[in-house]
Amino acid sequence: MDECIDCAHVNVKLNKTPVLKDINLKISRGEFVCVAGRSGSGKTTLLRTLLGFNKIDSGTVKVAGCDVSGGETAALRKRTGYLPQSIEGNYSISPFTARDVINMGAKGEKARLAVEELKIGDILSRRFSTLSGGEKQKVLLAMALSRRPGVILLDEPNLNLDMVSYADFISLVETTHKAHGQTIVLVTHLTDRLPEACKRVIVMGSGAITRDCGRDEFMKTAGATVG
Ligand SMILES: Nc1ncnc2c1ncn2[C@@H]1O[C@H](COP(=O)(O)OP(=O)(O)O)[C@@H](O)[C@H]1O
Ligand SMILES: [Mg+2]
Repeated sequence: MDECIDCAHVNVKLNKTPVLKDINLKISRGEFVCVAGRSGSGKTTLLRTLLGFNKIDSGTVKVAGCDVSGGETAALRKRTGYLPQSIEGNYSISPFTARDVINMGAKGEKARLAVEELKIGDILSRRFSTLSGGEKQKVLLAMALSRRPGVILLDEPNLNLDMVSYADFISLVETTHKAHGQTIVLVTHLTDRLPEACKRVIVMGSGAITRDCGRDEFMKTAGATVG
């Protein structure tokens, strides 16, 4: 199988506390996977580990052909797009425009294509801090997409969105997935609104993967497992 993400026996500690425990996970190129689980179950830590932001205590992590656990993270930056859980960060206390934020990902033709794909040409000159939650998420998605990554990691993009804006955002993610076939990992609590393209759900609990199954199987017992 053509693995895009491959974690084997991964353990991660934060501040000496074990947070990820023996994670084994293979995701194929082009798969669209959702990750669910209660707050504090380790979802954000898993994404940040895939991106090489956390020290890996033991085990191996490979993402998009990069040996992350071996420290190969320079190429990883170009091959991955990441939408963090908190979208406020530094952008909102600065004078950056939406265009400035997108250009942190890439400039020129690549950025232009991402803007066109997400249909956000009309808000490019506005200050990022003045945008609505939905507009901010689109700008950050454009920044992530502008590098033309093969892997996109999205951490609870619903947090600052109403349900209509979230549906709109997810349909953009699905459009880009259909067009470019990226591997997508979407962390979401909203398991009753799984995107059509998502065919597999991974559930985390207390730093471990407690469930990894197909969409249909998940739907039969979702309420009992995610909490
Ligand atoms: N820097 C840190 N130091 C110690 N513990 C942390 C740190 N960051 C997160 N944790 C703990 O790791 C666990 C998983 O957190 P997180 O990955 O953010 O979960 P989730 O995204 O599923 O809500 C939580 O118990 C959290 O308190
Ligand atoms: Mg989180």
